[in-house]
Amino acid sequence: MKKILITGGCGYIGSHTCIALLEAGYDVVVIDNLINSRKKSLEAIETVTGKSLTFYQGDIRDKELLENIFKQEQIEAVIHFAGLKAVGESVEIPLEYYQNNVAGTLTLLEVMRQYNCKKIIFSSSATVYGDPEINPIPEDAKLSVTNPYGRTKLMLENILRDLYHSDQTWKITLLRYFNPIGAHQSGLLGESPQDIPNNLLPYITQVAIGQLPYIRVFGQDYPTKDGTGVRDYIHVMDLATGHLAALEHLENQQSLEVYNLGTGQGYSVLELIQMMSEVVGHPIPYKVLERRPGDIATCFANATKAEQELGWKAQFDIKDMCRDSWRWQQNYPKGF
Ligand code: NAD
Ligand code: UD1
Repeated sequence: MKKILITGGCGYIGSHTCIALLEAGYDVVVIDNLINSRKKSLEAIETVTGKSLTFYQGDIRDKELLENIFKQEQIEAVIHFAGLKAVGESVEIPLEYYQNNVAGTLTLLEVMRQYNCKKIIFSSSATVYGDPEINPIPEDAKLSVTNPYGRTKLMLENILRDLYHSDQTWKITLLRYFNPIGAHQSGLLGESPQDIPNNLLPYITQVAIGQLPYIRVFGQDYPTKDGTGVRDYIHVMDLATGHLAALEHLENQQSLEVYNLGTGQGYSVLELIQMMSEVVGHPIPYKVLERRPGDIATCFANATKAEQELGWKAQFDIKDMCRDSWRWQQNYPKGF
């Protein structure tokens, strides 16, 4: 059975991907320093799948630990989620972001090379498209970033390209996620923000459950259908199966590949609030405020490349995403 190392496997997307991999019959090894997650997510993965995984608590910058993992386990490929991801925080503490995301990935790649494990799937982000010139955004659109978090993603994409060009025995896939939301259908696993959420969906569910007074809608003067920002929300379990498809494709891949993982559909802030109100069964209060600095009007994926080459297409619609997020929020009002 193939053994896959999941960095950041206790986190939001990583934990859902662990479920998809275990269910597909892979052996899973997780490394996570728990800086933005709890070990409880691993218990939930095991409950949902009825399978166990191997966990190493530690930092991907700890070379000795990584070497031990590669010595102990026959790792076939790595799915690399570990990293810091809050845009606002990255502006305040850029060194920590470069250190964690860039230096951490370099250490991981060095150890992978040392142990001749040369297959990696990397978590990139639609943030590398900056303020896109066209929507839906194809993978070959112009790239630009405006904050340290985004820069770490773009730097790492470039580092991985350089690595591939230097040694084409590497098999590398860059996955650019659009806006992941939703939770596992069991209601046992979901996004567990440590503080007040920055992202829209967890904010909406916390207002819906009464933990926050109202949603702050950041701007209603964008050139969009109702003036509020439009995004491509994608169910986290669709993202998880996207990783599975990418992993299966990696084997036969002849070059470094980049795929958007999105649904190809854009929804506005007000549409999402409306959809969640229907799921919850009561109106959810909101107030329109100023635009949030750095936000863009519209961003949604051209998702045809992943469909054509990976045979992967998002299955869940926006109502499924709201319903599953809400189930998780009700079960775990304070997260893990
Ligand atoms: P998350 O914070 O829930 O998960 C990241 C995990 O990595 C956490 O469990 C954290 O404890 C761990 N981690 C962080 N630094 C580490 C280190 N140095 N060593 C070991 N473990 C470390 O985030 P997520 O939403 O699951 O995102 C996963 C990846 O996907 C990230 O790289 C993120 O930048 C990227 N991404 C996320 C989104 C999103 O909206 N969630 C969008 C695009 C891209
Ligand atoms: C954010 C990150 C981006 C990351 C993406 C997915 C920023 C500037 N960008 O994008 O790098 O790839 O998450 O994780 O943080 N909104 C509100 N009220 C809120 C929160 C958000 O109205 O309380 C609006 C925003 O203006 C936006 C939409 O909701 O139009 C989605 O926001 P959010 O969930 O934060 O994601 P992005 O800004 O797309």
